[in-house]
Amino acid sequence: MSSNSRSYDPEESFMTDVANFFDTAPPLKDRSVISKKLKEFINHNSHTAGNGASMRKIVCVTSGGTTVPLEQRCVRYIDNFSSGHRGAASTEYFLKAGYAVIFLRRRGTCQPYCRSLPDDPLLECFESTNDSNIRVQQSQAEAVKKAISSHHAALEAGVLLKLEFTTIFEYLQMLQMTAVALRDLGPRAMFYLAAAVSDFYVPWETMAEHKIQSAAGPLDMTLAQVPKMLSVLRKDWAPLAFSISFKLETDSQILLDKASSALSKYNMHAVVANELATRKEEVTVVTLHGKTCIRREPGTDIENAIIQLLAERHAAHIQDTLQNQAVS
Ligand code: PMT
Repeated sequence: MSSNSRSYDPEESFMTDVANFFDTAPPLKDRSVISKKLKEFINHNSHTAGNGASMRKIVCVTSGGTTVPLEQRCVRYIDNFSSGHRGAASTEYFLKAGYAVIFLRRRGTCQPYCRSLPDDPLLECFESTNDSNIRVQQSQAEAVKKAISSHHAALEAGVLLKLEFTTIFEYLQMLQMTAVALRDLGPRAMFYLAAAVSDFYVPWETMAEHKIQSAAGPLDMTLAQVPKMLSVLRKDWAPLAFSISFKLETDSQILLDKASSALSKYNMHAVVANELATRKEEVTVVTLHGKTCIRREPGTDIENAIIQLLAERHAAHIQDTLQNQAVS
């Protein structure tokens, strides 16, 4: 059969788009450093705390929004909204639940244990003294002490690895590296994909090199679609891992239908559906077993209940997978 007469295969076309995305993306700076950090972190957490189902679980939490550069020497870019609060708070609760966490966050967005600090901690938490020293302001002392001690404790125990991205190119390359590195953990790995990921981008080879000139008149630009990597994650990168994606909408009428269709389309284990305006108060966790609405309890974060529910489901997923492996 000649190539012209071959019928269109959507799966093949999708895989071509995925390969094109990675082949044409600007290579990740520090790839070897990141790879080494991942290897050491996973090694460390694979050889501690129990064996079999009781071994330490590792979750990759993604957080913050990806950018889409419009110029190779980037002056302008398109951004995706996310403060990183969800990812940072969830990381704290995963650590509390005994997980080791790979925290893949957008540079400059919220970090674990820093949520109770003011927006500009350096300028707002410290003051200079008469003898030209610097000290923590009394009003911030508790918050600063808690942030520093919790953060240092997690790093010293080797259960928190922080990696940073800015662009969609960096994010997807780092997610792929992390997933492939976690593959051998099988069902003990979890992906909690709270980052707000660009749906459209300018392919690197079609991108202007220099700053786009306004003198040329209105800007007419076609954006290519970013291939949804969720299905590749499930099928190829880390097929046994417990994978959770998020569904963000501003229209509550379409939210749950879109979350249910993401669950089946990308073969996710759970989809956390949230509406932009109420995301800190209410979410719905959609799984094959049904929908669970979670509301924030007074005095705590909604992430506390989300992580409790997902950790239970993850434990069941590990048991099921290990039993199936033992039978076959
Ligand atoms: O950070 P905060 O201010 O606290 O807000 C938290 C949040 C609202 C950003 C978070 O709870 C959330 O909903 N994150 C996902 C936002 C998003 O990208 O939603 P989406 O419906 O566009 O995408 C759904 C899923 O597909 C996401 O898990 C995303 O990782 C994935 N995706 C999206 C686009 C793409 N090209 N590839 C992907 O894999």
